[in-house]
Amino acid sequence: MPSDNQHARALDDAYENVSPSERYKAEGAPSAARHEPMYTVPKLEDYSPAALDGVMQDAQRAFDSEKTQALDEAQDPNLGQLERANAIKSFRDRWVARRNGILAQITSGWLTSAPAQAKRDVGQRVNRLVAVVAAGVEEAERAANLAFFSLPSLQRLDITLPGVQRPIGVKHPVLRVQDEIVAVFKAMGYSVGEGPEVETDYYNFESLNFPPNHPARDTQDTLFIAGQESKPARDRLLLRTHTSPVQIRTMEKQSPPVRIVIPGKVHRNDPLDATHSPVFHQVEGLAVDTNITFCDLKGTLDHAMKALFGSSVKTRFYPSFFPFTEPSADMQVSCIFCGGKGCRKCKFSGWIELLGCGMVDPNVFEFVKHNGYDSSKISGFAFGMGVERITLLKYEVEEIQLFYEGDVRFLEQFA
Ligand code: DAH
Repeated sequence: MPSDNQHARALDDAYENVSPSERYKAEGAPSAARHEPMYTVPKLEDYSPAALDGVMQDAQRAFDSEKTQALDEAQDPNLGQLERANAIKSFRDRWVARRNGILAQITSGWLTSAPAQAKRDVGQRVNRLVAVVAAGVEEAERAANLAFFSLPSLQRLDITLPGVQRPIGVKHPVLRVQDEIVAVFKAMGYSVGEGPEVETDYYNFESLNFPPNHPARDTQDTLFIAGQESKPARDRLLLRTHTSPVQIRTMEKQSPPVRIVIPGKVHRNDPLDATHSPVFHQVEGLAVDTNITFCDLKGTLDHAMKALFGSSVKTRFYPSFFPFTEPSADMQVSCIFCGGKGCRKCKFSGWIELLGCGMVDPNVFEFVKHNGYDSSKISGFAFGMGVERITLLKYEVEEIQLFYEGDVRFLEQFA
């Protein structure tokens, strides 16, 4: 008994011996059933016009029938979108692919190897076939496209295709805390302002009561923009060292009362270490009105710290110095790690220094007195806090650099 393999080979051989036209006659045009025996380019032995017409007809008939089949598949609702698109593409490639498409095979197999006297006959017919095939492929593509785009959009959508994943990211921890701080003050009725990062000497220092050459300037060394020697000192541009200049900018625009917080980026000529960065963020606060006292400052900041760190946090105010406030204080919170008992983080003091604050110095009001800031009638408090510092504490992060390196493994922990 012949093996299955032998049997299959015998069938194939039988098939090869039947001319394509006979094959189509026997089978009828290929039906919706896929995997029809496909047309193969026969070898030419007879170059008579009649024989040439015959093989050309076979080729064209095969082409027409494959075109119909490809179009059927391209519109078959039981197939996936990709399969439908592929039906036309593989039909096209099969016929017109430059390398081994049927047209290429016909040209090389029939035309190139034709005897000299038959070249003309073959050439004319091949050219006609090429034109028919090119037009037919184009028509099939157009019809398939038309059919596709006239489908209701839901059917054009292949919901079985895997989706494209776009990680949307999360807010950076520093900006998140900055927003949180701002939100705490907004809830108390503060408005929110901003100011320029490239600032003049006047706003950054002079109007905040840092006179030229005053030693307090040394505590906030920064970068000056080059080539400004011809300008008066107060107009020279620098990268702002704090958000406090926006206090003056705000008071120039707005008469009292004022309650405002100002988040933003600031710059210092500070070397990078575990807790310092030459670029960092601050949130500034300013409240000016009649009868504002140090009690208001204490109550406001105490409330804000409880909102940020939890209601068990305590605050205390320690005498300090800033040129633009008098009196000035450093505000400390009870250590959020040990609750005030004393640990390594608070250097066993139970307290952590968090921000600078004070009552607005009358000298500062002098710069804006034309706008209603008469220090005999109004008073105010101000404060400024480092956002990174609060973020480091809140999330127990040990290295400030982690905020700037953009390492997703770090950042995704805040998702
Ligand atoms: N600007 C100060 C700094 O960057 C912080 C500061 C202290 C701001 C006291 C204030 C304040 O508004 O009243 O070091």
